[in-house]
Amino acid sequence: MSRAPASTLTVRQVRQIGGEISVPGDKSLSHRAVLFSALADGTTVIDGFLPGEDCVCTMRALQAMGCVIEVESKTRLIVHGTDGKLRPPLEPLDCGNSGTAMRLMAGVLAGQPFSSRLIGDASLSSRPMKRIVDPLVKMGAKIKGKGDKHTAPLEIEGGPLIGIDYTMPVASAQLKSCLLLAGLFAQGTTSVTEKTPSRDHTERLLAYFHAPPVIDLKPDGKGKTVRVRGGSRLHGRDFTVPGDFSSAAFWIAGAAALPGSDLTITKLGLNGTRTGLLSVLLRMGAHIHETISDSSCEPYGTVRVYGRKLRGTKISGAEIANVIDELPIIAVIGALAEGPTEIRDAKELRVKETDRIAAMATNLRAFGITVDEHDDGMTVHGGAALKGAKVGSFGDHRIAMACAILGLFAKGETTIEETGCIATSYPTFEQDLRKVAQFQETGFAAMLSGNR
Ligand code: S3P
Repeated sequence: MSRAPASTLTVRQVRQIGGEISVPGDKSLSHRAVLFSALADGTTVIDGFLPGEDCVCTMRALQAMGCVIEVESKTRLIVHGTDGKLRPPLEPLDCGNSGTAMRLMAGVLAGQPFSSRLIGDASLSSRPMKRIVDPLVKMGAKIKGKGDKHTAPLEIEGGPLIGIDYTMPVASAQLKSCLLLAGLFAQGTTSVTEKTPSRDHTERLLAYFHAPPVIDLKPDGKGKTVRVRGGSRLHGRDFTVPGDFSSAAFWIAGAAALPGSDLTITKLGLNGTRTGLLSVLLRMGAHIHETISDSSCEPYGTVRVYGRKLRGTKISGAEIANVIDELPIIAVIGALAEGPTEIRDAKELRVKETDRIAAMATNLRAFGITVDEHDDGMTVHGGAALKGAKVGSFGDHRIAMACAILGLFAKGETTIEETGCIATSYPTFEQDLRKVAQFQETGFAAMLSGNR
């Protein structure tokens, strides 16, 4: 996947974060909507598709396997389903920076009657794929990556699979989804048990596309088993992707921590397996209204946030999976709150697009914040005076955006370098920043400058 040339984003202190916006489509749902409709029969119109680089990788890979996708506009796709009959790709399938693209597609490809190769950029090629390779091999798949960690490129010799019962060693929606997708092409039933709930978009979309999995909730409410039957067929059905809660999280968190702010975000995905940030912020003393307007497949609605001074909190245990993509912005909010904010049980952050614990600790320190780094998280000591800083993105979209929000609270100028990565999940981040940020001085253009 080609990247925008090196770019930077410069921001200054704001008075308030406010107004009304909607954010681009949900990344997790855009991947799944295009993948599931490509595997389904019939035609599916997807509205609200996220035209971020990650989801475009999934779309292109499906096109390379014979699925006809009309790109009516950046956000509206017409997918002509293949009824599960993909064609062998002529070239390696490029997943770019996207773990979701690679892990979900690997599940599908393991059961196809052809060979394929999944490749990715330097970051994706260093991320662990053993977590999907091991259970897929148990299902009879011929799949391998490089070295002990089975890093990309992944070589897949597709063939017959058999259903397995698998208990996941990590809370990962990507792993769960990979195995459920492989299960659709396997003989018999595949069951996946998670001890800690992870995002449930795959389960919801399988049901929406007429192949409902059977779900057994554990009696103690902790985790569940999801079962799919091999040979289940998906049927195409139009789908509208709601706004990405993980993108809105930057504005929600920023507005919540800035007294005087009043921000409304509409058409926002509000799936309870994704909105843990709202509970964290409420615990920190935030003032938030959440209104769910529709729950037919994926709940969505409106969030209104009023700014206040916040206090530190602890985030750990089962809550981590729900806020996994929000932990960089939670670390930022910790820096703005009174007292310490402790993040624990979040070792997964070390194997995201970058090591997000090390990256956030480095960048927060550059702003003048004291951070204790732990093996499985960090403690951020909030309340210090913030000075504008020059920080790197570490090639990670969420590090770049989280630090841009922190820059809105710092005295002086903050520059984030290498911000091209933001396009993987939030291509219009800068435009939306212009909409919601009310800068301290007049002359907006001077207050925010990108050189893309
Ligand atoms: C995703 C799951 C999460 C998340 C990622 C998207 C998904 O990863 O961090 O951005 O779409 O399933 P894990 O499931 O590996 O934690």
